[in-house]
Amino acid sequence: EKGGFDSFMEKEIHDQPDAVGQTLLGRSDVSGNLVLDELRIDESILRSVDKIVVLACGTSAYAGQVAKYAIEHWCRIPTEVELSHEFRYRDPIVNEKTLVVAISQSGETMDTLMAVRYAREQGAKVVAICNTNGSTIPRESDAVLYTHAGPEIAVASTKAFLAQITAAYLLGLYLAQLRGNKYRDEIADVLTDLSAIPAKIQAILDDADKIKQLGADMVNAKSVLFLGRHVGFPVAMEGALKLKELAYIHAEGFAAGELKHGPIALIEEGQPVVVVMPSSSARDSLHAKVVSNVQEIRARGAVTIVIAEEGDTSVEAYSEHVFYVPASPTLLAPLLTTVPLQIFALALASAKGYDVDQPRNLAKSVTVE
Ligand code: BG6
Repeated sequence: EKGGFDSFMEKEIHDQPDAVGQTLLGRSDVSGNLVLDELRIDESILRSVDKIVVLACGTSAYAGQVAKYAIEHWCRIPTEVELSHEFRYRDPIVNEKTLVVAISQSGETMDTLMAVRYAREQGAKVVAICNTNGSTIPRESDAVLYTHAGPEIAVASTKAFLAQITAAYLLGLYLAQLRGNKYRDEIADVLTDLSAIPAKIQAILDDADKIKQLGADMVNAKSVLFLGRHVGFPVAMEGALKLKELAYIHAEGFAAGELKHGPIALIEEGQPVVVVMPSSSARDSLHAKVVSNVQEIRARGAVTIVIAEEGDTSVEAYSEHVFYVPASPTLLAPLLTTVPLQIFALALASAKGYDVDQPRNLAKSVTVE
């Protein structure tokens, strides 16, 4: 059932074009309007929402962090992302006007379930984004948007992550459509751009030999840092998490802008740093700032591994390794830039001879608090 791959993880990384494609399927009507049939919360309630709180753990929380950038941009609704286990222990402000989005691949994570129960007790409406039909979190939520990634077997999440981002984006676009704000016109364009993503993921998978080789070559790395900015920041954290989970290497994801406020002290000769470049459609200044981050760390001896958009040659002079992903609008870039980071972690862990499907000490779903 590994479909000819060496591990479920490798298979699931290769399932990602379908995971995104299936999650997008059948979500718009003939006139291009987004229809989310499963979303059974009264439209008047969705129109009156004044805050969104995304609750999740692990990789799912990083999907939430990516989604925040898009939801706030399209909907102009203040959106917070919080780890489920932190949320209910700090007396959070949640009420009838709060829409909680609970993201869980398994639908069984106890921390997220308890947070959902707490939020509903405070009067919030809860939409679950979930990959497992009929699991507990969707059953206890007011509505559910299923991701259609197919069963995810490997403990470390890959295809569910991309499907969660896709589903959260659909939710954001739907709210924007419903609330009729100025970003309404963008919706059709974004849906078209989203529909082009599966083929772009496939192109990354088809051209992965170089990043696999780099992962294998780095088998002796003791620590790898990841930098990203804007939506690239949660992508950097997810890339670091994959490496921790699979290869048991110390890895941290940082916001690139934070570098000078602390993490740059970690840079010494030979320190590998993976940099997720903003797409060139990001405001120019953002792109230029990350280019200068790459220069700064390189000058201090870092070995820079850069994930950039095709055609972006700006960092070639400062990078030991550059890996290109197809161009996309900024907000959609995480659906692409994450993929080489997954392949890198898989290759490095495989070179170490580790069981990538069942990393030590981890469970696929944690059903205790
Ligand atoms: C962890 C898994 O325990 O739970 C992670 O090992 C996962 O891969 C996290 O991201 C959250 O799980 P879920 O099912 O709630 O998305």
